Amino acid sequence: MSWADFQYEIYLNGLTGAVPRLPTDLTRLEELAAHRLGPGPVGYVAGSAGNGSTARANRAALDRRRIVPRMLRDVRERDLSVTLLGRPLPAPVALAPVGVLSILHPDAEPAAARAAAARGIPYILSSASSTPMERVAEAMGEIGEGERWFQLYWPKDVEVARSFLSRARAAGYTALVVTLDTPLLSWRPRDLDQAYLPFLHGVGTANYFSDPAFRAGLAKPVEEDPNAAVTHFVSMFADPGKTWPDLAFLRENWDGPIVLKGILHPDDARAAAEAGMDGVVVSNHGGRQVAGSIAAADALPGVADAVGDRLTVLFDSGVRTGDDIAKALALGADGVLVGRPYAYGLALDGQPGVDHVIRCLLAELDLTLALSGHATPATLTRDDLTEAAG
Ligand code: FNR
Repeated sequence: MSWADFQYEIYLNGLTGAVPRLPTDLTRLEELAAHRLGPGPVGYVAGSAGNGSTARANRAALDRRRIVPRMLRDVRERDLSVTLLGRPLPAPVALAPVGVLSILHPDAEPAAARAAAARGIPYILSSASSTPMERVAEAMGEIGEGERWFQLYWPKDVEVARSFLSRARAAGYTALVVTLDTPLLSWRPRDLDQAYLPFLHGVGTANYFSDPAFRAGLAKPVEEDPNAAVTHFVSMFADPGKTWPDLAFLRENWDGPIVLKGILHPDDARAAAEAGMDGVVVSNHGGRQVAGSIAAADALPGVADAVGDRLTVLFDSGVRTGDDIAKALALGADGVLVGRPYAYGLALDGQPGVDHVIRCLLAELDLTLALSGHATPATLTRDDLTEAAG
């Protein structure tokens, strides 16, 4: 069985008249989801910082790079498996942390997490999930089953930070992904124009409202005074005062791998290595934080050159198809996170929708590699890419 066999499964099902419920060109999902969702949720997911220039740059940087296929290399036996952060995985792909999934589908994070677990790929649960981390872990299976990583929005309140880390550890999350690019919420016109921010309605706050250290800071229980709980959440959700020496706190309180998400400058990547971190995610948050920022794919080679021999280098922002994943791997990523595509899959069809997205991406990646002369991701290098003229 290879990931590419998904295409034969689709054609064989077609003999009985069945066709896939969702498009296999995943770039079509956003428009379909836009018809399905209300204007608030669709703006929240599809929107970006400012006028969207960084989200467009993310796409342009991937589009500009073109794969140069090579011929007559034996690609009968293919293997997409990799080891990332010490974990053996069937493919170099994980689901990125995306918060507040209940605005897209009532089955929310447990559905996305189950879909990832069923295919063996890591699910990265957001701090801002609409389901508490323990319930998502339960949905994925016993500890040791269903590879799960926890994304930390590093709160101001040190006791809440400590409590999140110990809860995540106890619930079987193996790696910690610390998102550094969101010390403040950015200027997001699509949300501003609708005055839409789910957190103010108590959506995306489940980990906080269920946390003993968070609750200890409230005068009245969350259930009795939800508005005060939201205000407390807003006051401690992020901390723009953090600096590099603060990373020592994470190392002391988390004994597994730690990955810094949102790294774009080679010097920041080097600082991550010097601080004893295990990896970085080259990411601009899907263009949602700094308008006018460097495209993530343009930042990737510099970061990979700086720390690729010392740290695990992950990548996200703009990935929509299997060939995008191949390009990121060729540019130096060890693994790739996918954000909006699975959020749209969830919005359109719940867990099966996320499964569809995972299978399409991996089938297309498998075929792209094979048809370009690669039996494994390991043989991809920058020499397999060229840059299209302007
Ligand atoms: C995100 N992202 C994100 N990142 C994070 O670290 N914690 C979070 O809670 C969220 N929440 C979130 C919500 C929504 C609706 C989106 C679209 C994104 C960013 C995410 O992890 C990832 O960096 C981007 O989604 C990658 O870009 P693409 O794949 O969406 O282009």
